[in-house]
Amino acid sequence: MTDKLWSGRFTKGMEGPVEKFTASVAVDARMYREDIDGSIAHARMLAAQGLLSGEEAEAVIGGLRAIQRDIEKGAFAFDAALEDVHMNIEAELTRRIGEAGKKLHTARSRNDQVATDFRLYTRKALVEIAGGLRSFMGALLVKAHDHVDTIIPGMTHLQHAQPVSLAHHLLAYFEMAVRDHQRITQALEGVNVSPLGSAALAGTPHPIDRDSTARELGFSGPSRNSLDAVSDRDFACEAAFVCSMIMMHLSRLAEEIVIWNSQPFSFMELPDGCCTGSSIMPQKKNPDVAELVRGKTGGVYGGLMAVLVMMKGLPLAYNRDMQEDKKPVLECLDTVASSLESMTGLVAGLSPRKEVLEKSLKEGFITATDMADYLTGKGMPFRDAHRVTGEIVARCVSLGKGLADLRLEELTAFSTLFEQDIFAALDPGTSVDRRKSFGGTARENVRTALTEARALLEALAHEK
Ligand code: ARG
Repeated sequence: MTDKLWSGRFTKGMEGPVEKFTASVAVDARMYREDIDGSIAHARMLAAQGLLSGEEAEAVIGGLRAIQRDIEKGAFAFDAALEDVHMNIEAELTRRIGEAGKKLHTARSRNDQVATDFRLYTRKALVEIAGGLRSFMGALLVKAHDHVDTIIPGMTHLQHAQPVSLAHHLLAYFEMAVRDHQRITQALEGVNVSPLGSAALAGTPHPIDRDSTARELGFSGPSRNSLDAVSDRDFACEAAFVCSMIMMHLSRLAEEIVIWNSQPFSFMELPDGCCTGSSIMPQKKNPDVAELVRGKTGGVYGGLMAVLVMMKGLPLAYNRDMQEDKKPVLECLDTVASSLESMTGLVAGLSPRKEVLEKSLKEGFITATDMADYLTGKGMPFRDAHRVTGEIVARCVSLGKGLADLRLEELTAFSTLFEQDIFAALDPGTSVDRRKSFGGTARENVRTALTEARALLEALAHEK
């Protein structure tokens, strides 16, 4: 019961269970670096404004850096009785440097302090996630480069639809990642506003300079309204949403990898390093990384919901409910970072089984659309071509044959437009290469798309 030593309002400390219940330090200790950076910027500003002497500011800054070193060495004991990272660091500072430490909180409240720290932390984490996303995108491009000529059955409804280049399929995930990257950039704009100096809710009578602290902390500028600044967690919701979208995309790829790797498909071999065995079934090699990414997506959506619902209906300004913002959002950020890293390795280690893919392309009448397109090319209205091809497929089903197994005479019985060249049109490679429409899967297109994707990734890496 060492809390509230700083407050004259209380004669009794908190009950043990209440202290434990209300403390947030177990979660927010991770923001020590941001807390110290924010305090140093604040101290410098106070000194520049004549609110701290030069020596006091030096003592504060030196003391804070020493505390940072101790934390990083693991030589700092955070105390739940001091509630959070902010009070822990401030109390220790005062214990070490005396009077000057007590002046640090001039013109500041924990309400603007916690909002500042959380924004700084979220900014750092999102920048790291953007880097992880680019590595993932790089792995997609390397794999796509190696597999322009690997044709796979493109699916709709998880049924054979039309052949596509595996590179085209991987580039679809690249597009999702490009949008995710853009969303991070947009989210960062929202994150990068400084609440510092809004104080508890109404601003401060002290002559502070909010522009200078914002600048020093790398923010684009100070927030405009003090009430909004201390009670706004839009940035946290947006970060959790960005994370949710990334996980949604990763989970879709993860699911495809699970399917591709399952015995009935056997399209791909996975790297041993991303799989585990079974404790009982000796033959097993399970796609754990993909399954866990798929599973963790639920937790990330949960984090988004947690922070959205926590904020719902909160009156202005700060409410203690808001202490519950960090756990879900930090978990979202952590999970996305580790999922991206694992998926990067998984994608890099995918080895498609060409023989299995080739065999699979012979099933499911995957080039039926090409037959309809062939007839359409010869002047038959597409709807009629669709019907005629459907009848041919039905005949093949009853004969237990594929489209290319029929003889020309069997085909001309359905339409006299069929000629010998129909058989070339039914080849999966031809099917792919004929889809030259912009954004289509023709290998020529895919090679151009790959070159453009590489340039785009390069540009994203240099974006600020
Ligand atoms: N531990 C609090 C949090 O994380 C810090 C802000 C406390 N402010 C207050 N007025 N009690 O939200």
